[in-house]
Amino acid sequence: MGETTAQPPILGVPLADLRRDRTSVKWGVHGPGVIPMWIAEMDCAPCPAVVDAVSAAVARGDTGYALTEEYAAAAAAFAEAEWAWGFDPRTTTRVADVLTGVTHLLGLFTDPGGPVVVSPPVYNAFYEVIEACGRRVLEAPLGPDHRLDVEGLAEVFARVTADGSRTAYLLSNPHNPTGTVHTPVELAALARVADEHGVRVVSDEIHGPLVLPTSTFTPYLTVPGTERGVTVTSASKAWNLAGLKAAIIVPGDDAVDDVRRLHPYVTFGASHIGVIAQTAAYRDGRDWCHRLVGELDANRHLLAELVAGHLPGASLVVPEATYLAWLDLSGLGLGDDPAGEVLRRARVALSPGPIFGSGGQGHARVNYATSPEILREAVGRIASIVA
Ligand SMILES: Cc1ncc(COP(=O)(O)O)c(C=O)c1O
Repeated sequence: MGETTAQPPILGVPLADLRRDRTSVKWGVHGPGVIPMWIAEMDCAPCPAVVDAVSAAVARGDTGYALTEEYAAAAAAFAEAEWAWGFDPRTTTRVADVLTGVTHLLGLFTDPGGPVVVSPPVYNAFYEVIEACGRRVLEAPLGPDHRLDVEGLAEVFARVTADGSRTAYLLSNPHNPTGTVHTPVELAALARVADEHGVRVVSDEIHGPLVLPTSTFTPYLTVPGTERGVTVTSASKAWNLAGLKAAIIVPGDDAVDDVRRLHPYVTFGASHIGVIAQTAAYRDGRDWCHRLVGELDANRHLLAELVAGHLPGASLVVPEATYLAWLDLSGLGLGDDPAGEVLRRARVALSPGPIFGSGGQGHARVNYATSPEILREAVGRIASIVA
């Protein structure tokens, strides 16, 4: 019988090591007594393929400007292998990061001061990026089941386009912070109502590789009728590479000419080391990502058990994707700002619900990409202030 070597867990980094070794924003903002479970960085060990590629490049002195064709090819091969999504890498544009890609696309599809529709609760930076590029946020909330409300979307699209305003819809696919995985039927319905009203869909698929077992990821552009849509994605969430910047814009068949209108200069935003890191992730880090998804699957169930067992009065939407979970803390008697109370008294940093737009009151987003020990410690701390 062949011998198998057990691999150490990816999400097994001890708290003391994280405190000592991590200098990023997640660990730097709150100081040593706080367990940080807010911004979307993972407490993971790095992917060896990425470590090798980046270390070798820096050691070689290969630290110039990026050539990004290989990155596009690696992203396309990954999409084909994982989801049978075959896009032509030659139609893509590479950019600094996903939000920069979104900014460029909103510049193409909307006018200064014009409307961009989002479905709250939704990724807080969508609000920031829309504001930063001088556009106006309009909300078409998710339904009570945290799924796309297509009738609500149609109503908002009809209202905002009535005066001829050029409008975009910014989709989080899968959905941050609820972890909703949109189905092909929902995406087709979105595309239909968007087309009916001339609304351009920008699909942010950065969490695509983080769809958990029991659900299946559907890239927006694989759904018939989405040809006018554009996807922006990167390896940054699934391999924890936010500090190694690169991302890719993939146009639908009827959006290729639109995306060609972006100035070639935008490609220079992607960092050479970011491109090297993310190319290695897509090309040689698939097994690592699959192992990570298995650990996240276990963690989401552990978190659900911990919340049910220790925080009666709180309720958790068990996510279908991402390493972020949407927690209703309104029944805990912690007042109007439960995440603030949890930070002050339990020394656990969650993302406060209201930053995710309408429907966020009384809620918080928890980042569970950490070790089971840290998850237990964090929930135990919160339980101690509501006991
Ligand atoms: C849905 C979503 N889009 C984009 C980003 C940020 O991506 P980037 O750093 O590439 O701009 C995040 C980070 O958490 C995210 O959750």
